[in-house]
Amino acid sequence: MVKTMTPSRLKLAARLQGMGASKTLEITARAKALVAKGYDVAIFAAGEPDFDTPEHICQAAIAAIKAGHTRYTAVAGIPELREAIARKFKLENGIDCDPGRVIVTTGGKQAIYNLLMAIVDPGDEVIIPAPYWNSYPAEVKLAGGIPVFVSTWPEGGYQINPQAIEKAMTPRTKAVILCSPCNPTGAVYEPKDIDAVAQACSDRGIYLVSDEIYEYIVYDAQVSSPARRFPDVSVTLNAVSKTYAMTGWRIGYATGPQEVIDAMAAIQSQSTSNATSIAQYAALAALTGPPMEQARQIFRERRDLMVGGLNDLGLKTPLPQGAFYALADTRSIDPSDVNAAQFLLSEAKVAAIPGSAFGAPGYMRFSYATDTTTIARGLERMREALRKRG
Ligand SMILES: Cc1ncc(COP(=O)(O)O)c(C=O)c1O
Repeated sequence: MVKTMTPSRLKLAARLQGMGASKTLEITARAKALVAKGYDVAIFAAGEPDFDTPEHICQAAIAAIKAGHTRYTAVAGIPELREAIARKFKLENGIDCDPGRVIVTTGGKQAIYNLLMAIVDPGDEVIIPAPYWNSYPAEVKLAGGIPVFVSTWPEGGYQINPQAIEKAMTPRTKAVILCSPCNPTGAVYEPKDIDAVAQACSDRGIYLVSDEIYEYIVYDAQVSSPARRFPDVSVTLNAVSKTYAMTGWRIGYATGPQEVIDAMAAIQSQSTSNATSIAQYAALAALTGPPMEQARQIFRERRDLMVGGLNDLGLKTPLPQGAFYALADTRSIDPSDVNAAQFLLSEAKVAAIPGSAFGAPGYMRFSYATDTTTIARGLERMREALRKRG
């Protein structure tokens, strides 16, 4: 008989303490389980476009398989893709970039993970504007670092305050992470504010991490890359996931100072090696193919419907300038956002994410990356559930 050890002798690593699975994926799974049971659920939880990956991108992947591109690639990615990314950074973002300073990763998430593993020592502080995308603090902690949050406010459209960020800098500060357009607030930071933060980072020798994954999904604002003027401290992260409806293909990419990109590649070489060869060819077709202009207009219509509807329900929601999320004040439903989310899921069959997952207790994030019929139906059901509750 196999002898088993008592559970108490088996211990997981201390770095996992306090780490839960991604709340976003958890709620989406619960909503999908309800759908599987036959319920009609309006799902405003997921962080992915509802379009299919464009046909020319899928065809490029099929061609890659047929051409035998099914083996290991260079750790940092196939040369053609790194060249296309460097060209994109230069032309679209004004970043002086050569292919040797580009790494291709398994989704944007791995770019952030590689980067934080490469730059954060135990006890280092990383400044993150709040509300924030929940993986930033989780990954900072995994690397042994300490997330330091600097609040942004709905009254100010969730814009960053460079002075407040500068005030939070200490001798232990290793990096500042900016995400513009921002998940979960939809804020697009003013170029002058991004540059002011970059200047403060440059003055003190602090990395500025710029997550630009939603750069194409902007409405009436202008996106700006800090690496354009501050290449010495900036690391730019991006992915094809949101722009080209390619979340499942898992291709992210980054550029930054040479030693940082080399360190990220060293970490990747010992964890996942290269991103999937076939998906790299698909990403090449995405980056060299037609722009996804139409998506922006579609998201704008959905945004207006969602934000208008939430405000009509008395759930104060500033108009997002980018990405496909709206952060609503749901304290009138329940002071606890977790209770409010449960109420909406059980009574209105509407799934959205409690804001505490993003450092915004009392608020909920509604993703409008879904069709207008679903948005209208969800809002109507919320109205009905709130009316019944009185
Ligand atoms: C702000 C932000 N950065 C990065 C990612 C990671 O994207 P992926 O790993 O799917 O490319 C996401 C996904 O939700 C995100 O919202």
